[in-house]
Amino acid sequence: MQAVLEALPHEFQQFREVVETFSKLVLQSRLFPARHPSVERALGLAFIHLDAALQGKKSVKLIFTNGVMCWLNFELDLTDMQDKAMHLFRETLVRQSIGEIEFMNGVTKDEIAAFAALLAGSGPKQAANCASLGVRIERICVRHGYRAEEPAAEETAEVAPREPDRRSAPRSSGAAGDRGVMGKVVQGVLDKLEKIQSKDGTTARAKIIEVIEREGGGTATILLLNSLQEYDDYTFTHSVNVAVISAAIARNLGLGEEFVDRVAHAALLHDIGKLYVPRAIIHKAGRLTPGEWQAMKRHPVDGERILREERFDLVSRRVAFEHHMRHDLTGYPTPKLGFEVHKASEIVRIADSYDALTTKRPYRRQINPYQAVKLMEKGSGGEFRKDYFVAFMRVLGNIPIGSMLRLTTGETALVIGMNAGSGDLPRVRVLTDAAGKEVSGEIVIDLNELDPATNKPKRQIASILDQAVRDVDIGQYITS
Ligand SMILES: [Fe+2]
Repeated sequence: MQAVLEALPHEFQQFREVVETFSKLVLQSRLFPARHPSVERALGLAFIHLDAALQGKKSVKLIFTNGVMCWLNFELDLTDMQDKAMHLFRETLVRQSIGEIEFMNGVTKDEIAAFAALLAGSGPKQAANCASLGVRIERICVRHGYRAEEPAAEETAEVAPREPDRRSAPRSSGAAGDRGVMGKVVQGVLDKLEKIQSKDGTTARAKIIEVIEREGGGTATILLLNSLQEYDDYTFTHSVNVAVISAAIARNLGLGEEFVDRVAHAALLHDIGKLYVPRAIIHKAGRLTPGEWQAMKRHPVDGERILREERFDLVSRRVAFEHHMRHDLTGYPTPKLGFEVHKASEIVRIADSYDALTTKRPYRRQINPYQAVKLMEKGSGGEFRKDYFVAFMRVLGNIPIGSMLRLTTGETALVIGMNAGSGDLPRVRVLTDAAGKEVSGEIVIDLNELDPATNKPKRQIASILDQAVRDVDIGQYITS
């Protein structure tokens, strides 16, 4: 790659370096406060490249249209970029309707830092970051009016108001700024939660929002979840599933509602360190190379660091750091002898393994819930803490929720929960009739129910089908 780059015209290399280093700066500003070493490092590089590009020029103008960044007669298609910083940068420009950024000669490091903080987001953290920098951005101009499918009205505006205390967002809309952008971010996450739903239309949203409000103080958690969702949809959905399952295990263990919420919140952010793992590695279909595997294994360390920087609670930080450690102290990061894994991490580890096994991934075959539990049982007492695994089994029942059954009537049914009363057999929802035709409406049956005429079960389980089902909101059933 380096050899190819070296063969390209000098101006194109320069252009590319400006965009790449500036994208990284925006990403770091999104994650960390101003003056943080990671931000400072990224700022140093962005400044060097921008300064070099400005030599002998009055200004440089980056024009952004339909996902493509242009400079002079060069183009860089940001939609093709695998790099997460570039991806987030493109998303930011689209979301904030930015069509052009002009850097004037003489632009200072502080101006670039403040501009990146503004672009990074409009939450309280970024607003505080920008205010703490205390600079006026005079040598950077943006032109709103990103040209995509829906053209917006063009207008030129200074990126930020002159008064530091009024700076809120890089939008010309002024007062609407902060609340408007923040509202969109929150709504985006809520909309996404809404989509994680079962066939009967129930969603994980209400439970998760409760947890976010009670535990995360809302904003910071939503911002991180938003970053995660923009970065990788699977990781976001997986995190919500793991939160729901973890909460159910904690509740079954009788650990108290306060702890249940804390575990659920920690589970939501357990994989946040994956923001630092290149997307190409996350989505790779084949086996990871040793180098790629090393990069993947760093996510617990990075996750803990992000949460520490954002002053999250200790349980969330420990879960992010420990969720790949096993009960027998194997796993990663390698713990010291005698290390005690936090009980929240032990719970999240079980939920994480279960959801990962029952989900289709490019590199792994999806297995059904019954097979997953059978496979995981082998790790009870070793990989998984035994009494917690027993609680997990109690939550799922002997035939786990999400399993597909063939009944003696010829119908197929989905296990949706255990009977609240007596009896060992689950409640099921009939999906198809004996002829294989999809049934209309919701038919829920308790398999413990006896036919009063014969005093025998109306329906019995003929077999557990080798069929994985993933569009089920597990939490809807296991937390009720
Ligand atoms: Fe993980």
